[in-house]
Amino acid sequence: MLASPYSRYLLCKRTVDDRALNRHVLERLRQELASPPREPLRVFEIGGGLGTMVARLVDWNLVKRAEYHLLDVDAQLLADARVWLASWAKSRGLACTVEAESVRIQGEPDIDVTVRFECAEIGDFVGDSANLPRADLLVANAFLDLVDVPAILPRLFGLLADGGLAWFTVNFDGDTILEPEHPDDALFLRVYHRSMDERVRHGRPAGDSRSGRHLFAHMRNAGASLLAAGASDWVVHAQAMGYPDGEAEFLRHIVDTITAELGQHPEIPPAGLAAWADLRRRQIDHAELVYIAHQLDFLGRGPRVESG
Ligand SMILES: C[S@@+](CC[C@H](N)C(=O)[O-])C[C@H]1O[C@@H](n2cnc3c(N)ncnc32)[C@H](O)[C@@H]1O
Repeated sequence: MLASPYSRYLLCKRTVDDRALNRHVLERLRQELASPPREPLRVFEIGGGLGTMVARLVDWNLVKRAEYHLLDVDAQLLADARVWLASWAKSRGLACTVEAESVRIQGEPDIDVTVRFECAEIGDFVGDSANLPRADLLVANAFLDLVDVPAILPRLFGLLADGGLAWFTVNFDGDTILEPEHPDDALFLRVYHRSMDERVRHGRPAGDSRSGRHLFAHMRNAGASLLAAGASDWVVHAQAMGYPDGEAEFLRHIVDTITAELGQHPEIPPAGLAAWADLRRRQIDHAELVYIAHQLDFLGRGPRVESG
C-alpha cells in the first residue's frame, strides 16, 4: 500500500514514460553499457521517486548487477519506494531483501541489484561532491526541469567516474497540448509555463519551461560530450477500452496540478479557471482528453576526471 498520493501519480506515470523514452537514446545507452561491461554497475539516480526506473532498467535488460543509489528529497516517497520495489520484484519472481537503508533484488538471469536510499535535497547533496562515491551512470528522469541546471550540472558531473555516462530523460521543453482545444488554453498554458520559470523550491530556483533545449548548451558548458539526444514526448490518449491502466488518474493529476498553480495567478479569472478544470475533468471521465507534453532525452559522457 503506497502512503503518498504522489507515489500513486508516479506509478500511473510509469507506462506513459515507458512509451515516451527515446529509443535511439536508449539503444545508445545499451551499447555504451555493453562495451566494456561494468559490473557491478554503479548507478546514481537523482529525484528517483518511487524507483520505477530501477524496475525499468532491470525489465529492459539494461542493468543486471548494480550498486544503485537513489536520491530523493521526499522521505515518504522513499518509504513507498521500498514497498513498491518489493512488490514489483515479487511480481517478476525475483527475491527481495528489504533492510533499513537498502533493498536487494536477486534472481535469474544473474540479477543482483542493491538499491540504497538517500533522502536529501540535490543542491545540498552535491555541495561537496569531491567526497562522494563515483558512479558509472547518472540517471535523472523527469527531474532536471525542477532544478537550477546550470548551477547544479557541473557538480552533478563531479559524481561521475572517468568515462561515466549521464542519461537525462523526460526533460520538459516548452509545449503542452490539450485536445480538444479550448479558447482559454493559450493564456492558461502560457501562465503555467511562466510559473515553471519563476518557481523557487528549497530556497533555490527550481525550473525552466524549456529545460530540454537548454540542456544542449548546459551539458556542453559543464564539459560533457553529447552522445545522443531525441524527443520523449508524453502522449496520452484513450483507446477503444478507454485510457490504459492508471492513465486517467495520471491525467487528473496533471489537470489538478495546472489548476492549483493557475489559482495563484491574479491574471487568471477564478470562474474561468473553474469552468476550464471542470470541462477537462469531464473530458477525462469520457475518455476524450488528449494530452501531449514535449520533452527531450539526452545521453552524455561526463568530463574527463584528472587522475592523481
Ligand atoms: C516528477 S518526479 C519524478 C520521479 C521519478 N524520477 C520518476 O520519473 O518517476 C520528481 C522527483 O524529484 C524529487 N525532487 C524534486 N526536487 C528535488 C530536489 N531539489 N532534490 C531532490 N529531489 C527532488 C521529488 O520528490 C520527486 O520524487
